[in-house]
Amino acid sequence: MHQVDSRYRTSKWYGGSGEIVPHPADGAFSVRAQFTIESDVRVMHGVFEPHNAFLADYYREYGRCVMVVDQTVDELYGEGIRGYFDAHGLPHRSLVVRAWEVDKHQPLVDRIMHFFAEQRVSRHEPVLIVGGGVLADVGGLAAALSHRRTPYVMIGTTIISAIDAGPSPRTCVNGHRFKNRLGAFHMPVLTIADHSFFRTLHPAHLRHGMAEILKMAFIDDHALYTLLAAHGERLVETRFGTLVDDPALTAVADTVLYRALRSYLGHEGTNPWEVHQARPHAFGHTWSPGYELPAGLLHGHAVSSGMALGATMAAEMGWIDGGERDAIIELCSRLGLAVHHPVLGDFDLMLDAQAMMIEKRGGTLWAPLPKGAIGACDYAERVEPSLLKATLATQKRLTAGLPREGLGIQMHRSDLGMG
Ligand SMILES: NC(=O)c1ccc[n+]([C@@H]2O[C@H](COP(=O)([O-])OP(=O)(O)OC[C@H]3O[C@@H](n4cnc5c(N)ncnc54)[C@H](O)[C@@H]3O)[C@@H](O)[C@H]2O)c1
Repeated sequence: MHQVDSRYRTSKWYGGSGEIVPHPADGAFSVRAQFTIESDVRVMHGVFEPHNAFLADYYREYGRCVMVVDQTVDELYGEGIRGYFDAHGLPHRSLVVRAWEVDKHQPLVDRIMHFFAEQRVSRHEPVLIVGGGVLADVGGLAAALSHRRTPYVMIGTTIISAIDAGPSPRTCVNGHRFKNRLGAFHMPVLTIADHSFFRTLHPAHLRHGMAEILKMAFIDDHALYTLLAAHGERLVETRFGTLVDDPALTAVADTVLYRALRSYLGHEGTNPWEVHQARPHAFGHTWSPGYELPAGLLHGHAVSSGMALGATMAAEMGWIDGGERDAIIELCSRLGLAVHHPVLGDFDLMLDAQAMMIEKRGGTLWAPLPKGAIGACDYAERVEPSLLKATLATQKRLTAGLPREGLGIQMHRSDLGMG
């Protein structure tokens, strides 16, 4: 391997090495190279509280902080964020953008890249992204494309961006008939999960974010499932304990965030270029990307209905028993998440969704489904149309008798005026 002295490194987070492998028989050669990244993750309270010097110290060596901030977050916290850097004597420049699902397209990426260029951000200077999952995906992609790779720090201000989209190695925008079709693998060099931001979340945004935590519990972490079964409703009602003075609940909220991050990054963070499809955290994300946008669903309700579909299929296949299937569906439903939607009745759309996922995952479906018990999974390589049809019929029957006939509370983007 050809190692280069570390003083020539472009930035401290990225490393790598490579070698030339000759083919003596025909005189050709291959290039073999590896790339490494070090990405830190922290659960913290009050990241922009003036007494908390962590972030200011992090940026001190760059002499400034260049940031992109979600418009709603700026309205609620902008003054505090700017005041924080002022209090620490650090110059700062910010671009404030609206980042809704309908904005998750290339023009927003361009706008952010233009800002980075205007600010003359260099290849070793970490930009700061503060916002929800949409901004995490779009801002992360803008960083990936700027100078081909510009590091970024992610502060997720929604549940989804704190524990999933924020630390995710996948940055993306929607387009070309599929959600998240265009993107790049580019994970932040630092993720800060600070649940104090959750206090101002719209209850519908808080609720749909729970789906991504449930996903990790159902498929990878039984202890997390036990915590959510016991405290999930209270976490939703109190916005993760931020609306009440209850230290025990705060401790539960911290543990839930930590376990969710640990579970997610244990799989996705250690497979940051998706070199394999043993990806438990794609549970609920096999068929739903094909119907989330046409149905106008908030992401978490698409995922929860997809998890109900997956649990039902796992039971049809004998991978779990009916009790485990029902426990998965019941907990999603109890937290107000969709476990069914009329769009699931459009069989052609569901088949198309499956076909597009097979393309995306390299020719095999690789659908993670619970197996053995809640907290463990295996992967379905193919699903025959007959199995999909039977599963959809069973799911419809099982969920018809549940509260709201299986629908979620405020599950459509249009319910929030974000259609
Ligand atoms: N890259 C990945 O691996 C990955 C994983 C999961 C989800 N995602 C993506 O994440 C997106 C959903 O994320 P989301 O739910 O964060 O949506 P979002 O980014 O649209 O945020 C929801 C709303 O909350 C507002 N907001 C953000 N922080 C707030 C706060 N602290 N207080 C009040 N309002 C606040 C935003 O302005 C927005 O209106 C989807 O596009 C999904 O595809 C990506």
